[in-house]
Amino acid sequence: MARRRRIYEGKAKILYEGPEPGTLIQYFKDDASAFNNQKRGVIEGKGVLNNRISEYLMSRLAEIGVPTHFVRRLNMREQLVREVEIIPIEVVIRNHAAGSIAKRFKIEEGTPLPRSIVEYYYKSDELGDPMVSEEHITAFGWATTQDLDDMLSLGLRVNDFLIGLLLGVGLKLVDFKLEFGRLYTENDEMRIVIADEISPDNCRLWDARTNERLDKDRFREDLGNVKEAYQEVARRLGVLT
Ligand code: TMP
Repeated sequence: MARRRRIYEGKAKILYEGPEPGTLIQYFKDDASAFNNQKRGVIEGKGVLNNRISEYLMSRLAEIGVPTHFVRRLNMREQLVREVEIIPIEVVIRNHAAGSIAKRFKIEEGTPLPRSIVEYYYKSDELGDPMVSEEHITAFGWATTQDLDDMLSLGLRVNDFLIGLLLGVGLKLVDFKLEFGRLYTENDEMRIVIADEISPDNCRLWDARTNERLDKDRFREDLGNVKEAYQEVARRLGVLT
């Protein structure tokens, strides 16, 4: 069988050349990593679950007019996406204290934040994804002020929408990470769209009643039942088949 051309391989996904120009196939692996790749493992079936969960969330976002790279799911582990120029900034949006912000400011995990807090991190494995300010981002040319405006307003819309959607199925959106890309249209216009994935790999999702962790923190902190947690998120969203 002819192999497709592999464009990029990351920690949790592989990108292959798509069937038409301007498209890519995003393949979801079971591999998991944490702490800048110092901890690695395999969560059996994670790729299948994240493919479904991300398809579901990206589709709901498209319905409210939030542009994403997602086109359609192709099979258990693959989805067709639009090829975008990835902006090398991870946008983290936090609603409750957890993880690095809880540690940095000594805030008890789960404490609601006075308002949603947005942080930027420069995507660099070599540097360990350092936190950066808008000044760094624009001065070093990673994104323009206009790009950042679009990323911030899209990010906050996604946050508001996902908080409600997830609370409807008994999940608290503690925090999450988004990636954005530049999509060039046929008439050479550029739009900022959501890229990558939205899944328990890059969201902290807690049971709204018990605060049970139902996300990658189960892997990071060796809490056990990692696969079961991802399955529970998929089940609540109605995408477990
Ligand atoms: P943090 O508390 O470790 O800074 O993480 C905040 C959120 O961002 C959490 O939901 C996990 C997600 N995240 C990623 O998806 N990728 C990353 O490289 C990091 C550092 C965090």
